Amino acid sequence: MLWENKAMKYAHAVITGASSGFGAAFAHRLAGECAHLVLVARRGEVMDALAEELCAAHGGLKVTVRPCDLSDTAARESLIRDLTRLPKGKLLLVNNAGLGDYGEYVASAPERNHRMLQVNVVAVAELTRALLPRMLEQGGGIINIASLAADLFIPDFAVYAASKAFVASFSEAIRLEVRSAGVPVVAVCPGPVHTGFGDVARRHGCTNGYSPFKKWFYTPIPTVVNGAVDALESGKARYYPSLRIRMAGLLVRNLPLWVLRLVMGRRPRKVSSHDEA
Ligand SMILES: NC(=O)c1ccc[n+]([C@@H]2O[C@H](COP(=O)([O-])OP(=O)(O)OC[C@H]3O[C@@H](n4cnc5c(N)ncnc54)[C@H](OP(=O)(O)O)[C@@H]3O)[C@@H](O)[C@H]2O)c1
Repeated sequence: MLWENKAMKYAHAVITGASSGFGAAFAHRLAGECAHLVLVARRGEVMDALAEELCAAHGGLKVTVRPCDLSDTAARESLIRDLTRLPKGKLLLVNNAGLGDYGEYVASAPERNHRMLQVNVVAVAELTRALLPRMLEQGGGIINIASLAADLFIPDFAVYAASKAFVASFSEAIRLEVRSAGVPVVAVCPGPVHTGFGDVARRHGCTNGYSPFKKWFYTPIPTVVNGAVDALESGKARYYPSLRIRMAGLLVRNLPLWVLRLVMGRRPRKVSSHDEA
């Protein structure tokens, strides 16, 4: 089996949100380091094409495409049942799937908020709980995709920023619990990156929101993904890709709350119109 090849770091890597953006890039990065990839997202046909491409490029690699709507409780339970039956071996979990919603909370769609919390928060907690016991026995690691937004309350991005605060806090706590067992956990905190994220987060009839400094902070996808894997391997608790993002995170975490309230009161992400959906 490929896992017995010493060059392989993991027997299995489970990547959520593998149909796009960071998730697809994690699949490319990990294809050469894992014997078996499990790709999870809703768009099965996109992941089928990715799986074909990866298998063609990496002889002996096994890729399982596992379509799943992580916002659906029954679908998550079924996914977890399948994942807990994976054959023995070191397992890497990449909790990457996520979505945002730009705009005032009062005008938000309750169903969308629910979905966001299920995917960004509940799925992360449940997958971690389900797979951590085998990691403690057989080895493994967890990469949780949080955000620079985890350090900040963001008007017009309220639920998303709070959901990422959960991811960062949860990762830090779990990391301390399992550190002595040699299972690394890292929270990845990117700033803005060109992926499908912005289009999904934008409400019908709205612009992306005003953010004058956003352009300055953009990081390429490979920087985030390769840096995240390296950060996990070196045992870091958090990874802020690029010096600018690291400095922004440092600044935000050290400013007094009253200063942050003044800055965020200027509504840096204010959108141009209300959600009509
Ligand atoms: N891009 C940024 O600027 C940025 C910055 C900081 C953090 N992040 C975080 O990075 C992570 C990846 O996002 P991305 O930037 O790569 O955006 P993306 O291109 O939109 O990818 C999001 C992924 O999440 C999956 N997903 C969404 N809802 C899902 C659901 N209900 N069930 C299963 N999978 C679902 C999508 O797959 P399907 O649509 O096929 O289901 C897709 O594969 C997210 O957690 C995001 O919050 C992004």
